[in-house]
Amino acid sequence: MNKQIILLPGDGIGKEIMDAAKFVLNTVASEYGHRFTFHQHAIGGDAYDQLGTPLPEDTINACQSADAVLLGAVGGNKWDTVPVHLRPEKGLLGIRKALGLFANLRPIKGFAPLLHASPLKESVINGSDILIVRELTGGLYFGKPSERRENGNAAVDTLYYHRYEIERIVERGFQSAQLRNKHLTSVDKANVLESSRMWREIVNEKSKDYPDVTVDHLLVDAAAMKLVTNPNSFDVMVTENLFGDILSDEASVLTGSLGMLPSASLRSDGVGLYEPVHGSAPDIAGKGIANPLAMILSAAMMLRHSFQMKEEADAIEQAVNRALDNGYHTIDLDIPNGKQVGTKEMTEIVIENLTNRSVANCILSTYA
Ligand code: NAD
Ligand code: IPM
Ligand code: MN
Repeated sequence: MNKQIILLPGDGIGKEIMDAAKFVLNTVASEYGHRFTFHQHAIGGDAYDQLGTPLPEDTINACQSADAVLLGAVGGNKWDTVPVHLRPEKGLLGIRKALGLFANLRPIKGFAPLLHASPLKESVINGSDILIVRELTGGLYFGKPSERRENGNAAVDTLYYHRYEIERIVERGFQSAQLRNKHLTSVDKANVLESSRMWREIVNEKSKDYPDVTVDHLLVDAAAMKLVTNPNSFDVMVTENLFGDILSDEASVLTGSLGMLPSASLRSDGVGLYEPVHGSAPDIAGKGIANPLAMILSAAMMLRHSFQMKEEADAIEQAVNRALDNGYHTIDLDIPNGKQVGTKEMTEIVIENLTNRSVANCILSTYA
């Protein structure tokens, strides 16, 4: 297959981990006879520095005509003082909105060699396998008004959802549950928020169309608690934008590190943007020590969801598993008697596991 992939490395460790994903995809292409063409564009602080905007038109246009988009991360202290509408994060929120990517899938599955590294007891996390389906283009992130009032002494943000926005994400949650263990937990704050009461009504209406899926409702505060006390009780969790943002970082501890968590942002026709859940990690940027696995696993999600390349996606995931099984880990992880490696070495090990041959000094010779 021939595929056009847009790369948006962004800021901080975004560039370092994007190189890793590109090498892994090139290996998949040569192993499986595909042709991936990469076009790189600017986003976030990097785009602001070059072009004065965190989301150039050219980047939006390129993404709109691509087969899929890979994004590293945006943001950093360097841009703390730029006007709010030009902040790097506006680039990320803007591209999600411009492409209509309303469904953010964040799978959280523990990796056996990392279970002990979790702040939770192994007995609590063992076997947990959760998919968070986060609404991505509505809610508090996008509602208007969002502004300062009374000479800066008051502020308002708006949590707005139209019925159709809730219906489509809830349907996506049910469909994901049908493909997994057929259990959907809808997370809301229906004891306080009107938008949550409408959300709950819609979940109950839609559940009639998915009789094979069992549904329960959890208030978001209780969901936060249950994620760390009984993560095994979840299969698919569907929730609004801000709740999903917070719960997915919390859930990342199940995998041992935020550096392990991939995500897919999709719309109904399968077009997607794939990005790690973590940010630009300014504290470790430029040191060559970032964990590239969330980015590499995001590339695997791209193969699975946008290109229907199941075998290739499985192969990447197995190569990552094997790297960890063999004790290799980056600075954010700990494996007893394991070996700590940097971004480049971890990428090489994943590629070696993919190809079953040593690649050091050949494919990666240009990898700075
Ligand atoms: P962060 O996710 O960047 O970092 C949190 C902690 O996790 C840091 O200690 C960091 O070093 C570590 N970490 C994250 N990813 C890692 C990796 N791959 N390997 C090793 N360690 C890793 O969150 P933050 O510090 O709150 O935010 C930094 C910037 O990133 C902010 O500007 C924020 O807005 C932005 N951000 C962007 C995205 C995105 O682009 N999708 C997501 C979250 C935060
Ligand atoms: C994420 C990030 C973004 C979000 C920020 C950087 C705008 O935290 O992808 O989880 O809140 O959606
Ligand atoms: Mn987040």
